Amino acid sequence: MNYDLKDKVVAITGGTSGIGEALAHAFVEQGAKVAVCGRNQVKIDEINKWAREQGLPLTAVRADIAMVPEIRKFAEAAVKAYGTVDVWVNNAGINVMSPFNKLSEEDFQKVVDINFKSYWYGAAVASDIMKSQKKGGVIINTSSFNEHMPSAEKAIYCATKAAIGSITRVFAVELGKFNIRVVSVSPGYTLTPINEKEIGTDFDRLVAAIPVRRFATTDDMVAAYLFLASDASNYINGVDIRVDGAKFGAQNPQWSWTYEGEL
Ligand SMILES: NC(=O)c1ccc[n+]([C@@H]2O[C@H](COP(=O)([O-])OP(=O)(O)OC[C@H]3O[C@@H](n4cnc5c(N)ncnc54)[C@H](OP(=O)(O)O)[C@@H]3O)[C@@H](O)[C@H]2O)c1
Repeated sequence: MNYDLKDKVVAITGGTSGIGEALAHAFVEQGAKVAVCGRNQVKIDEINKWAREQGLPLTAVRADIAMVPEIRKFAEAAVKAYGTVDVWVNNAGINVMSPFNKLSEEDFQKVVDINFKSYWYGAAVASDIMKSQKKGGVIINTSSFNEHMPSAEKAIYCATKAAIGSITRVFAVELGKFNIRVVSVSPGYTLTPINEKEIGTDFDRLVAAIPVRRFATTDDMVAAYLFLASDASNYINGVDIRVDGAKFGAQNPQWSWTYEGEL
C-alpha cells in the first residue's frame, strides 16, 4: 500500500484560507509540490514570501476561478512551476445566506460560478492536462455536509453542493478509462471564515447537533484528502467521503448522547 505523495504536483483552488490552506501545508509536509490560488493578493504575497523563506515547494497564484480563463491561467502556472498536475483539488467556495425568494440574481450567479462552474471547468482543465501526460491523476472536489442535508436560507449553496455530488460521479465514469479518479470530500461544520457569520450567531445550537460535540478543525479534514490523493485509494472512485463527526448519522443526532436511560 502506498500513501507516498512525494513529488506529486497538487493544485488547490481556494488555497489561501481555511481548509484549502491547511491542505496546502499538509501536502507540502508529505513531500508534494503545491500550487494554490485565490483572489486575496495580500494573502498570496504572504504565502509566497513564507514559502520562499522556508524553501518550500509552494506557489500561490492570483486567479478568480469564477472565470474559466482564470482557471486555465492557474493550471498553466502550476504546470510552469512544477511541470505537471497530478492532483487537482476543486476547493474554492463561498456561502451567501438568504431566504431563497430574496436571493438576488447577482448572488445566485456568483455562488453558481464559484461553487459549481469552477468545479466543472477545473475538472475539465485538469483532466486535459492529465490526459496529455498519459499518467492518470486524481480530482478531488470539496463538497459539504449540505450536499447530503440542506439547510434553510442556504438554498443556493446547498444546490451547488448537491450538483457537485452529481458531477463527481459522472466525471469519474467519463474519466475512468484514462486512469483519472474523481472523488469528493464532504466536510462537516469546520471553523473557517466561510461560516463565521452562520456559526457566530448560533454557536451553541449548532454544536449541539454534532454528535462528537465540537466543530471540526481544518486539520480534521486533511487525512481524507491525503488518502484520496494517494495510490492507496486507487480503486476508490466516484464517491464522497463525509468527514462530519456523524452529523447526519441519524435522524436526530442529539439523541446519540441525550438518552438518559440504560443502553
Ligand atoms: N467551513 C465549513 O464548515 C465547510 C463545510 C462544508 C464545506 N466547506 C467547503 O470547503 C471549501 C473551503 O471553504 P473554507 O471553509 O476553507 O472557507 P474559506 O476559509 O472562506 O476559504 C474559501 C477559499 O476559497 C477562495 N475563493 C473564494 N472565491 C474564489 C474565487 N472566485 N476565486 C478564487 N478563489 C476563491 C478563497 O480565497 P480568496 O478569498 O483569496 O479569493 C479562500 O481561499 C468550500 O468549498 C466550502 O464550501 C466548508
